[in-house]
Amino acid sequence: MATEYIQIESALSDKQVGKTVSIRGWVHRKRDQKELIFLVIRDSTDIIQAVIKKDAKAAWKAADQIMIESSCELSGKIKKDDRAPTGYELQVSDLKIVGLAERFPIAKDVSEEFLLDIRHLSVRSHKLQQVWKIRSTVFTAFREFFLQRGYYETHAPFMTKTSESGLELFEVSYFGKKVRLAQTWQFYAEALLPALEKIFTIGPSFRAEKSKTARHLMEYWHGEMEAAWMDLDGLAKICEELISYICQKVAKERAKELKLLGRDPAKFAAIKPPFPRITYTDALKLLAKDGMKVTWGKDLRTPEEKQLTTHYDKPVIVTHYPKKVMAFYKPSDPKDPKVARCLDVLVPETGFEVIGASERDLDIADMKKALKEKGEDPKDYEWYFDTRRFGSVPHAGFGMGVDRIVQWICGLSSIKDAIPFPRTMERVEP
Ligand code: 4AD
Ligand code: MG
Repeated sequence: MATEYIQIESALSDKQVGKTVSIRGWVHRKRDQKELIFLVIRDSTDIIQAVIKKDAKAAWKAADQIMIESSCELSGKIKKDDRAPTGYELQVSDLKIVGLAERFPIAKDVSEEFLLDIRHLSVRSHKLQQVWKIRSTVFTAFREFFLQRGYYETHAPFMTKTSESGLELFEVSYFGKKVRLAQTWQFYAEALLPALEKIFTIGPSFRAEKSKTARHLMEYWHGEMEAAWMDLDGLAKICEELISYICQKVAKERAKELKLLGRDPAKFAAIKPPFPRITYTDALKLLAKDGMKVTWGKDLRTPEEKQLTTHYDKPVIVTHYPKKVMAFYKPSDPKDPKVARCLDVLVPETGFEVIGASERDLDIADMKKALKEKGEDPKDYEWYFDTRRFGSVPHAGFGMGVDRIVQWICGLSSIKDAIPFPRTMERVEP
C-alpha cells in the first residue's frame, strides 16, 4: 500500500498525539547530540521538530548523513513537547533521503547582496515563505473584490508604442522596429470600456526608472481598474474599499503568517472605510506646519509623503495634485484648472504611494497639448483619441502597486523582498 503523507500543519495537533504519521519536506535545521539527532523539517504548511535516536539504526544512518535543505520522507509517532519550536515532536522510526543536498550556501550573517545572488535558494527561507503566502492572498483578494462587483478581467499587450512619458521605458526590438514594454494597461482598458464598462487586470508593468529606492522595481505587478460613468468620488470609494478588503482578508486568512513576520493581524482587521482625504494644497499646509516646505506645483517626494502619512493610522487619500506635473490624461478641475481630478493613496509606515488614480480627460486638444509638452508624438496616440471620438463617456480608473501593498502589509524594509525574483537597476539574475 502506498504511504499516505500528511502535511506538517495537520501533524501539529493534539488529535495526532500517539499516532504514527508520515510527512515529507526539507531539512530546515539540524542539531547533533551523542545519542540524538534533531532535525527541523519544513513543508509548505509549517515546521516540525523530528528526533532520531541512535537505536533507530537505519534512520540514524540517514540522519547522520543528511544535510540542511535535503528533501526527505519521515514516519514516526507524534509527541507533545513544549520545547519544540511548534509544540510537537516527531519521534522518527523511518527516514528516507529523497534528494541529498550539497552544503547549503546560506549560513547566518551572509549579506543581503549574497542572498539576492542566490535568490533561487533564498526564496525558501522561513521569512520569505510567509511573504509568498500573504502575496498570494493579496492577489486573490484583488481579483475577488472586482469579480464580486461585476467587473470583467481583461488583458492588454505588453509590447506597445503608447506610454505615460517617454523617459521611463524599456525599448525592445520588434522585428527591427522599436516598441516599448508596457507601463500600464490603461489605454487599452479605456478602449474596452464601451464593450465591458467595468474592468480590471493584474499583470506586470515595466519602468526603466533610474531609481534605487526601497519602493521601485523595474518590473512590478500592477493591479488596475477602469470604469465607465465613474468620477473622482466613486474612485476614492473604490480605492478605500479595495484596500480594506485586502487587509481584512489577509488579517483573517493569514493571521499565522502575519504573526510570524511580527505583524499584528488586528491592525489590518481594523482598516475599514472611510479613509481620510486631503487635497494636495492642504497637504502642503500640513507639511509646512511640520517644518517641511514644498513649493506649490512640485510633486510630493518620498520624505514628504512619509511625513504626511504620520498624521493618520489608516491609508490617506491625497487629491487634486497640480495639473502640470500629472500624466497627460488627468483632466483639470473645472473649478480650479491648476489642479487635476486625480488622487493618490499613501499607506502608513512605509509612507509610499500605493495607488495612482484619476478621472480621464475627454478633450483631445487638451491631451495633445500635454503630450507635446512631455515630448511625446501625439500621432502615436491617434487610436487612443478615437476612444473619445466614438461614444466617449466620463470614466475613471487607477493602478495599484501590488508589491508595495505586500511590502506594507508584511512590514518589509525593501520592496525587493515583496516579490520572489526582483528586477532592479543592477539585477536581472537569477
Ligand atoms: O501612478 P502610476 O504611474 O499610474 C499609472 O501607471 C496609471 N496609468 C495607472 C492607472 O490609472 N491605470 O502607477 C500606479 C502604481 C503606483 O501608485 C505605484 O504603487 C505602482 O503603480 N508603481 C510601482 N511599484 C513598484 N515599482 C515601480 N517602479 C512602480 N511604479 C509605479
Ligand atoms: Mg503615481
